[in-house]
Amino acid sequence: MHRSRVSTACPNLLAALAAASILSAGLLAQDVAPPPIPANTPYKDASLPVEKRVADLLSRMTIQEKAAMLSGSGWMESAPNQRLGIPAIKMADGPMGVRSWAGSSAITSAADAPAKVIATSFPAGVTMAATWDTELVKREGQAIAHEVKALGRDMILGPTVNINRQPLWGRNFEGYGEDPWLTSRLGVAYIQGVQGEGVIPSVKHFDANNEEFERHRIDAQIDERTLNEIYLPAFKAAVQEAHVWTVMSAYNKVNGVHMAENMPLLHDVLQKEFGFNGFVISDWGSTYSTAPTVNAGMDLEMPGGPPMKPWLERPATQAAGNSDGWLVAGKVLAEVKAGNISEATLDDNVSRILRVIFESGLFDHPHQATSEVDTPAQRAVALQGATEGIVLLKNEGALLPLDATKIHSIAVIGPNGAVARTGGGGSSLVRPKYAIAPLDGIKERAGDSIHVRFELGVGMDGEDPSMDTPEARAKMLKSATDAAAHADVAVVVVGRYPKLEGEGFDVKTMDLPAGQDELIAALERVNPHTIVVLNTGDPVTMAKWIDKTPALLDIGYGGQEGGLALASILFGDANPSGKLPVSFPKKWEDSPACGHYPGENLKVDYAEGIYVGYRHFDTKNVEPQFPFGFGLSYTTFKYSGLKTWPAKLNSKEPVVSLQVTNAGSRHGAEVVQLYIHDGHSKIDRPIHELKGFERVELKAGETKTVDFLLTRADLSYWSPDKKAWVAEPGTFEVQVGASSRDIRLRAPLVLEK
Ligand code: BGC
Repeated sequence: MHRSRVSTACPNLLAALAAASILSAGLLAQDVAPPPIPANTPYKDASLPVEKRVADLLSRMTIQEKAAMLSGSGWMESAPNQRLGIPAIKMADGPMGVRSWAGSSAITSAADAPAKVIATSFPAGVTMAATWDTELVKREGQAIAHEVKALGRDMILGPTVNINRQPLWGRNFEGYGEDPWLTSRLGVAYIQGVQGEGVIPSVKHFDANNEEFERHRIDAQIDERTLNEIYLPAFKAAVQEAHVWTVMSAYNKVNGVHMAENMPLLHDVLQKEFGFNGFVISDWGSTYSTAPTVNAGMDLEMPGGPPMKPWLERPATQAAGNSDGWLVAGKVLAEVKAGNISEATLDDNVSRILRVIFESGLFDHPHQATSEVDTPAQRAVALQGATEGIVLLKNEGALLPLDATKIHSIAVIGPNGAVARTGGGGSSLVRPKYAIAPLDGIKERAGDSIHVRFELGVGMDGEDPSMDTPEARAKMLKSATDAAAHADVAVVVVGRYPKLEGEGFDVKTMDLPAGQDELIAALERVNPHTIVVLNTGDPVTMAKWIDKTPALLDIGYGGQEGGLALASILFGDANPSGKLPVSFPKKWEDSPACGHYPGENLKVDYAEGIYVGYRHFDTKNVEPQFPFGFGLSYTTFKYSGLKTWPAKLNSKEPVVSLQVTNAGSRHGAEVVQLYIHDGHSKIDRPIHELKGFERVELKAGETKTVDFLLTRADLSYWSPDKKAWVAEPGTFEVQVGASSRDIRLRAPLVLEK
C-alpha cells in the first residue's frame, strides 16, 4: 500500500528514479504492485483461449507494470512480473545452434569465457540453404529447439532471413542466400521446427540489414517495389505461413527512419498488411527513441536491466548513436503522461508479449534445464546439413569421388585444413563440444592404407603474425608444394575465419585472404589432381586458378560435423547434392551492388532495385563464375514430360508436372528448380524468378514425377501505382531446370483474365 501511494502521489519521482535506472522492471513490479493474484484467476486457466487470457491479465496490470514489460531485465531476459506470475522470456542466439547467453559474442567467444555453454554447432544458414531441403531445415529447427529447452531457455534468436544483396556483407553466411522464394521456404521451415516444440523463434533482422558497414547509422534507400519483391517476402512468409511469434528489428534505417521506429514498415506493413500479432524485439541496442519506437510497434527493447547501462555507455555504442535505454519504464511512463503514447498503444504492445508467452506454452510449462544437448540425433541433423550443403562446383575428368582402393597418399593443405572453421564470427558462433576439421575427417575416412600428410601452405591472414614474414611464407609454400608433388591427390582447404568474416564488419574484398590464391595456383602447378575446397560463407574470386582447377567443392561453414561431411563427399560415401543459394560473380565489379555499396554520407542507395543476384546476371547477360542454383553430382539427371494445367492455379492440385530420371549408376538427389518468365508485362521484370523447387532422391535408373502447385501470386509483381500485387493475364513461361542457367524444359502457362 505504502508503495502504491508513492506511485500515485509522486509520479514524477517514479519517472526520475526509472530514468536514473534505479527502477529495474522487476523492482518496479515488486515495489508498486498490489498483492498477489489467486490461483483460479482466468488468465491462469490454460483451458481458456489465449486472447481471453491476455485480456484478463492485461486488465489486472498497473500501468507501471505494463511499462516495465517493454524493456529487458538482463542481457537475454525479458522482464518477469512476480506478482502476476509472468515469467521472463529467457533467450539465446541463434540461428546456428544455441550460443551462451552470458553476454555479447566478444565475451562468449573469448577463450576464457565465463559461462561455457556447449551446444551442437549446426551449419551456417547459407550452407543449410545449399541443401534446398526444407524438411531438413525444419528438423534443424526442432533439434535447436530441443537444445534451447534442455538448456532451460525459451527463445532462439533466429532465423536470419536477410537477403544476400552483395558478396561483401559480413553476415551473408547467416542468411539463406540471394533469393526471396528460397529464403522464405527455409525461413518458414526453421520457424515451424522451432515453434512446433514450444520454443520462441525470432525472425531477423527486419528489414534490409544487408551490410555491416555503419550498421547503426546506415540508411538504406529502397524503392517500394524492391522492398516488396526482394526484402520483405521472407518476413511476410514467416508471418503468414509460419505465424511466427516474434520478429527482430534491424539496426539500420530504411528510407530515413531507424527500423525500431519505422512506422511504415513495422506498423503499416508488418502489423497491418501482413497481420503480425506477435511481438517485435529490438536488435541489441537498436532503439533510439521512446514514443516513436513504442508507437511504431517495437515492443521489447533488448538488452535491458543492469547489463544495459554499461554496455550502452561504451564509446562504440555511443559513436553509433545510442547512448541510453529508451524503453525503460520511467521513460515510457513519462511519454504516456505527456500524451505521446496512448494507453491503448501501450496495451497493444504488452498484449503482444503476453500473447506469445501464453501461445508458446511458456506461462503454463516453463522449460526446465536437463542439459541433454549435442545428442546423437542432434549431431545427425548437423551432419546431414553439412553433407547436403556441400556444392560440387567442378569435377573434370571425374577426379571425384576418390577411389580409396587406388589412392595411396593425400596431401591436405591450407589454413582451413587442420582447423574446424565452423561458422562466421559474431552472435551466431556456437561453442561445440568438438568440431571435426577437414584433416580429421579425411584421416578418419582414409584409414591406415592411405597416407595423409598436412601442410599449412600459408598462414591465415592476421591469425599468427610469426607466419607473416617473407621467410616463413616461402618455407610454408615450399613444404606445401613438396607435399602436393609427392601425393596422389592434394586437397587444399582455403577460406576465411571469424575475424575476416563475421558480424559487425563487412568482408574487405571478394578475394581470398592473403596468399591463398597463390597457394592454390602453386599446388595446381605441381599436382594436376588438386581439389580445391572453399570454406567461406561468401562467393570469392577465382580468376587466378579456376581454369586449372580440376575439382572444386564449396563446403560453406559446415558446423561441428563439417570435416566428416567433406570426407564423405570426397570418397563418394555421399553423393553431392548441394546447389548454390547465391550467384558467384567472377569479380566484385560484376555484382549488381557495385557502385551502390557501402553508400555515401551514411546513405546506401539500392539502385539495382529488384535486380539482385541471378535476376541481375541472367537478365542483363552478365556471366557469373557459377550461377544460382548450380551444383554437380556424381550422377546425372534427365528431365522430361513437362506439362502445365493453368486452370489449376490457386488450387491444391499440381499446375506443373514433369519427370526426373537418375540417368547414372549411383544414387543421388537432384534439386529441381521452377522459374517463371513473364514476357508480356507492362512493367520491367527479371528474365525469370524462382517460384518452386523440390529436392528429389533417386536411385540409379529411377524416375520420379515432380509436381508443383502455383498461385496467381507466383505470377505477380508489385505495382507501386496500384500498391498491390498484379498478375497480368497472358502467356507466361514455366521453366524447369538444374540451375538458373541450366533450364532443361519450358512450357507456356496462360493466365486468363
Ligand atoms: C545481432 C543479433 C543478435 C543479438 C543478440 C546483435 O548484435 O545483430 O542478430 O541476435 O546481437 O546477441
